[in-house]
Amino acid sequence: MIPLISIFLLFGLNSIVNGLVCMNDGHFANPDDKHSFFQCSFGTPYLMQCPPTLVWSQDKYTCDYDTFQPIISCDDNKVVNCRENSKWLSDGIAFVGQDIKFGSDSQHLGAPFGVFIDTEHGNNIYVADTDNHRVQKFLHGSLTSGGITVAGGNSRGNASNQLDRPSSIYVDKDENVYVADNENNRVQLWVKGATSGVTVAGGHGKGKALNQIGACQGIFVHEKTKTLYVSDFYNDRVVKWTEGSNEGIIVAGTGFSGSKADQLTAPRGIFVDQCETIYVTDPWNNRVQKWKKDATEGITVAGGNGKGSDLNQLNFPWDVQVDQYNNIYIMDTDNSRVVKWSSNQLSGEIILGGNGSGIQSNQFKQAHSLALDKQGNIFVTERLNHRVQMFQIDNQTITC
Ligand SMILES: *[C@@H]1O[C@H](CO)[C@@H](O)[C@H](O)[C@H]1NC(C)=O
Ligand SMILES: *[C@@H]1O[C@H](CO)[C@@H](O)[C@H](O)[C@H]1NC(C)=O
Ligand SMILES: *[C@@H]1O[C@H](CO)[C@@H](O)[C@H](O)[C@H]1NC(C)=O
Repeated sequence: MIPLISIFLLFGLNSIVNGLVCMNDGHFANPDDKHSFFQCSFGTPYLMQCPPTLVWSQDKYTCDYDTFQPIISCDDNKVVNCRENSKWLSDGIAFVGQDIKFGSDSQHLGAPFGVFIDTEHGNNIYVADTDNHRVQKFLHGSLTSGGITVAGGNSRGNASNQLDRPSSIYVDKDENVYVADNENNRVQLWVKGATSGVTVAGGHGKGKALNQIGACQGIFVHEKTKTLYVSDFYNDRVVKWTEGSNEGIIVAGTGFSGSKADQLTAPRGIFVDQCETIYVTDPWNNRVQKWKKDATEGITVAGGNGKGSDLNQLNFPWDVQVDQYNNIYIMDTDNSRVVKWSSNQLSGEIILGGNGSGIQSNQFKQAHSLALDKQGNIFVTERLNHRVQMFQIDNQTITC
């Protein structure tokens, strides 16, 4: 949190400003401008300014990052895009797996897949440490202090305190951890602090029935509707499980591979927005598909122009994230790059990597997952480099 004292700028000295009469002393929101606030002192309001990238938060009583979701309605995608021209520093900072070696201690990982950032709780980072059959948590404030195991870590297996090649994670507002327990064909919920998990989807062996999961490398929880979305690549479908149900409902894909609008072929990473719109990578079709709530077919929002490295193409995209401004971030795995597509664009922009597969800090080697923290810094996991890198956003390029 930025200390208030450093951001105060004196703007005016009237007893009534914008209709606000200072009945009490203290700080109050400015109804006309979220980037400023009033300081009332002995009945006099002073207009104060937050730093340009921050907004006044009455709850937190300080200037803070803007968490307001500027979506007016689910039919209206027009939002001010504060990251339209944003840039990220090209060299990542590896805070785990710095020596690019497999390991099972707190400073190492084994072929990590998924990464999740808990923006509600200090941007803590969770990593699916796949070959160590555990989920590691890193505190954003002390990244290099190493990972803490919050799920699994009891060798490979199918007992309730074990995981078998976990691939994807979601952490809810109470810090409960959902884990795609890939080789066990189930999704496990590890309640915060628990020493074992409970099965909330699948757990009936590998198969195509609606109570089964074939293989999964992407999950997402829509917290408002208490719904778990499972991207089942083995079954070419996305299935949603509402809380307490014994089977899922297919919400994207037909269950049979193909490249038509209603099909998906081995979908991987998944993101679900507030409007229950599903974004899903369709790697074999080199595209990212968007399925609106209750849609019977998807719309291509990135790629779909064959396999390749041109700006309108993708090459085996694994993961997708969407920010609050509707920018789509794609882990374009076989191009060793991260690309950003703004909505309704015909091509993307390379924002990270694009320098071939390798071990340098501006390169990736089989990167499978990405996540954004609250400020817009990007985190990328690499299976073959056994590391997670943080790429800082250039603050000057955030335009509101
Ligand atoms: C769990 O693992 C044990 C030991 O490997 C195996 O015998 C059993 O069949 C497994 N159960 C399931 C449901 O896969
Ligand atoms: C890495 O790739 C980017 C995007 O293609 C390019 O702008 C940059 O110059 C490359 N950097 C190096 C060191 O090759
Ligand atoms: C951007 O701003 C944040 C918050 O003030 C700061 O922690 C971070 O270091 C800045 N990033 C860069 C690249 O300067």
